[in-house]
Amino acid sequence: MHEDSVIRNHFAVSFDYPVVFTENAFDPGSELLCRTFDKLGEGRRQRVAVFIDAGLAEARPGLETSIRDYAHAHADSFELAAEPVRLPGGFTVKSDNNVLKEIIFTLGNLHMDRQSFVLAIGGGSLLDAVGLAASLLHRGLRLVRMPSTVLAQADAGIGVKNGIDHHGQKNFMGTFAPPFAVVNDLSLLSSLPGSERIGGLAEAVKVAIIRDPGFFAQLEEDAEALVEGDPVALRRAVEEAAAIHLRQICTGGDPFEFGSARPLDFGHWIGHRLEIMSGHAIHHGQGVAVGMAVDTVYANLAGLLPEADCGRILALIRRLGLPLHLPELEMMRPDGELEVLRGIGDFREHLGGRLCITLPTAIGRAVEVHGMDSARIEKAIAVVKAR
Ligand SMILES: NC(=O)c1ccc[n+]([C@@H]2O[C@H](COP(=O)([O-])OP(=O)(O)OC[C@H]3O[C@@H](n4cnc5c(N)ncnc54)[C@H](O)[C@@H]3O)[C@@H](O)[C@H]2O)c1
Ligand SMILES: [Zn+2]
Repeated sequence: MHEDSVIRNHFAVSFDYPVVFTENAFDPGSELLCRTFDKLGEGRRQRVAVFIDAGLAEARPGLETSIRDYAHAHADSFELAAEPVRLPGGFTVKSDNNVLKEIIFTLGNLHMDRQSFVLAIGGGSLLDAVGLAASLLHRGLRLVRMPSTVLAQADAGIGVKNGIDHHGQKNFMGTFAPPFAVVNDLSLLSSLPGSERIGGLAEAVKVAIIRDPGFFAQLEEDAEALVEGDPVALRRAVEEAAAIHLRQICTGGDPFEFGSARPLDFGHWIGHRLEIMSGHAIHHGQGVAVGMAVDTVYANLAGLLPEADCGRILALIRRLGLPLHLPELEMMRPDGELEVLRGIGDFREHLGGRLCITLPTAIGRAVEVHGMDSARIEKAIAVVKAR
């Protein structure tokens, strides 16, 4: 009889990518993009395929020309593989398989190799879809992301994940694929509609609640300025939120989410469900705001979170112009159960393993729980509705 034998394998791959904050990156006088593409010091002309969010391009008619002009001015280090390609922005790019195929075909036809670059410019949805395509071609092209929404600069565009929605679930297909670099050009945010700008702030509030009381107090102080779109306050909020988010990825011990815990997804089980239930009429940030409000009250009702902290959290969400409640929260299934509760099952299935929901225990502190009580969720929904 043969003995079993095992060849054990263990190796680590380290990732190192800059998240740069700048303004007017396509100003021909700026060297920043050239430096970013040449971060490995290759000193050669880099081939770049550019994909642009159509919503962004329409709001900034000169953008494609300035990209061409930039490439022209830096022809020794930057070669456009083709004219910049426009893709639909928002939920269309993430929910239509044909768009993913189109990106893959475009990159294939351009004969992009593993050392070529994909430059994705747009909101979190476009970055997720282009990022997925880039991670699949030849098992991964170099991706530089240029997020153009508050949400994407603070959160969606700076991390290690991509994906598209499928099977009635958010991010059903996707990969973990850290980018080559991220360039947060704050000047891109000036064309963003107010509701998108405010929605993105939900992610800043989220990381403040679970990680950083000082940042939470800063957001309270800046609330009115943020609502008005003051660029200084906005930059402060985006940079701080991005820094906390990146710290979690780099030092949280589980950047590729092999475990079941996902602390940065506070408020997301409800938020994701509301997005799906509303056919994406509810935006990510607004859904997450409602999710945070309900889970905050839930934590208070469960005796985990003091009343005063609960009140501050709800007040900040509201002062920023984010919703605490939406009618979809009360939609019932034929069996008399709240439709939104399906979000718990979806959330667990996406992560695998044991259910892990993050709840705040103080401003700046959170805990993981492994079960949610339906009656208490209903009570929490009633409380946020009455606020
Ligand atoms: N990969 C991740 O880790 C991660 C994390 C959080 C969220 N996300 C995903 O991000 C998506 C949401 O992204 P989002 O909030 O950035 O919105 P979005 O990408 O859906 O874009 C919203 C709208 O704004 C338009 N737009 C983008 N930039 C603009 C600009 N500067 N000026 C004018 N219009 C502009 C778009 O065309 C679109 O119509 C969701 O699908 C969510 O699942 C991903
Ligand atoms: Zn989010």
